[in-house]
Amino acid sequence: MAVLGKDVQYAKTLLTAGKLVAIPTETVYGLAGNALDPQAVATIYEVKNRPTFNPLITHTDSLEKIAAYVESVPPLAEKLADAFWPGALTILLPKMPRLPDTVTAGSDRVAVRVPQHPLTLSLLQQLDFPLAAPSANPFNYISPTTANHVQQQLGNKIDYILDGGACSVGIESTIVGIENNKIVVYRLGGISIEDLERVSPQVLLRKKESEESPTAPGMLKSHYAPSKPLIVGDLVDLIPHYAHTKVGVISFRNTFSQVPEDHQRVLSASGDLNEAAQRLFSVLRQLDQLPVGVILAELVPNRGLGRAINDRLIRASA
Ligand code: TXA
Ligand code: MG
Repeated sequence: MAVLGKDVQYAKTLLTAGKLVAIPTETVYGLAGNALDPQAVATIYEVKNRPTFNPLITHTDSLEKIAAYVESVPPLAEKLADAFWPGALTILLPKMPRLPDTVTAGSDRVAVRVPQHPLTLSLLQQLDFPLAAPSANPFNYISPTTANHVQQQLGNKIDYILDGGACSVGIESTIVGIENNKIVVYRLGGISIEDLERVSPQVLLRKKESEESPTAPGMLKSHYAPSKPLIVGDLVDLIPHYAHTKVGVISFRNTFSQVPEDHQRVLSASGDLNEAAQRLFSVLRQLDQLPVGVILAELVPNRGLGRAINDRLIRASA
């Protein structure tokens, strides 16, 4: 099993030797390797069991460092970096050839992010290479938001998990590109559309694409899924409909008297969408581990981080 700890020096030693280390970020835990080392990058795909057409995000501690790996940084990207980095925003920028093609799965754009977590920022500051890191879950499962989540699923495949506690945002970063001087959102996430609109008023939402299309692999349909079937709808109708089955219930604010309390999870009793996002993935994992046949969930208000929560719920139910 992997060792859990807060030893940034040890993480640095492993990464420098081409090994993988799970790292905490404010969004979800990442499975990190040296982005400049094709062998380390290949190991990331292997450990995650991830198809090689699905590219990885490259992490550094500053826009200045990222500038060494991209051809140019458009003014709007710089504004976004100023506004949100370190933070839950990933920006697609034109890639330099020195980054291995496997990091971007052959795309001429690389996804870059400066994550907001003291341990990981300190690690990135000490490295002379950027870290390629997808979420530290096996392909198609729910992203990990604690070190233990990583341990449970990848613990036998990596040596070390940098333990930074529970992720404060709890949902993956928002991925944007800059096209015709406008922000195009490829994946909803920890930075809301409303936040982006404060930087540039016109924000376009890239339509979901089918599994066959490699142009926006972030939109693969059956991402983030628990192993139990997840049904999303109106709980007032769904709960009586599944009365003959043991169900787990994920609600936004309220509990339901027909379902045993320990089979229910409320995302935020006070109706706080940030708290709901923070809890979503761990709640999905908890219910997935209960002896229930099906998980029922309701959508949350479609604003702020609610949009990203609903996106994940709908995809997990696909
Ligand atoms: O919050 C996050 O973004 C976390 C933490 C660890 O940073 N990372 C994460 O990585 O969620 P991952 O690999 O699970 O999801 C990244 C998504 C993938 O769906 C991938 O298709 C998309 O980003 N992506 C990466 N590079 C891309 C590129 N060059 N063009 C288009 N999409 C890209
Ligand atoms: Mg992922």
